[in-house]
Amino acid sequence: MADLEKAGLLLDLGHEDTVATITLNRPERRNAQSPAMWKGLTDLSEELPESVRVVVLKGAGPSFSAGLDLRAFTPEGVPGEGPAVPPGTGPEELVELIGEYQRGFRWLRDPRFTTIAAVHGHAIGAAFQLALSCDLRIATEDARFCMKEPALGLVPDLTGTKPLVDIVGLPRALELCLTARVIPAAEAYELRLVEKVVATGGLDAAVEELVTALLQVEAGAARATKELLRQAPGNTLDEQCLAERRAQVGRLLRAR
Ligand code: CAA
Repeated sequence: MADLEKAGLLLDLGHEDTVATITLNRPERRNAQSPAMWKGLTDLSEELPESVRVVVLKGAGPSFSAGLDLRAFTPEGVPGEGPAVPPGTGPEELVELIGEYQRGFRWLRDPRFTTIAAVHGHAIGAAFQLALSCDLRIATEDARFCMKEPALGLVPDLTGTKPLVDIVGLPRALELCLTARVIPAAEAYELRLVEKVVATGGLDAAVEELVTALLQVEAGAARATKELLRQAPGNTLDEQCLAERRAQVGRLLRAR
């Protein structure tokens, strides 16, 4: 198993190894993220038991996560890791390197799992993008989201721009990113950025309720349905109808 402690992560398997709860575990730094944490997430995704079908991502301490560890942009970098962009990295190498960082976020779309972000406190920058990488989001009333990258002279590059635009539409996505403003939980709910807002202190119970409901559906059907729904926005009606038929054939003939 990946060196989770070094990556600032905790893994807990529950519901007879069908549910993996991953905790961002650097509470003293508000779970600030680093390339090592993203690598840890990628490694973890490759090592989860086949039995896992629901993944919950949450944060230890007062916040889900304060986003990228800002020390990553200093010449020294995050202690033990070095800078996020090593000196002398050329443009093409940097494109590759960011692609590696993005792997820590992309796997959450895998139809093998239904993924849930359980957000409390802050979800800033990389943390907002991590939550957007999940299929579903539950937030506490005190949760605050912010796409802060443009305010730091950067663009959001950790796979969050597509789900953001898919969910809220282009004009609202532009407004949220280009003002880098804080989005309170109630507004996040109105914008459909979160599926549910619960009282502070009610997060674990709400997640457990959702997990239990998700586990009621047969694993193969859940996987095939996620695969189908995920491709719907990019498909024409004809393509999607064909995808439905193919997926259903797979379901109907599976027992033969
Ligand atoms: N990086 C490194 N350290 C961080 C951090 C971060 N992103 N966020 C918080 N910390 C540290 C603080 O420095 C502080 O450390 P000390 O105790 O040693 O002073 C500790 O965590 C607690 O932080 P606060 O005292 O600030 O806690 P708070 O509850 O009052 O505030 C917060 C929380 C609003 C998240 C505030 O810490 C904050 O604004 N943090 C910075 C957020 C940020 O700008 N993140 C980067 C977003 S951009 C991105 O993620 C992607 C990208 O590509 C750039």
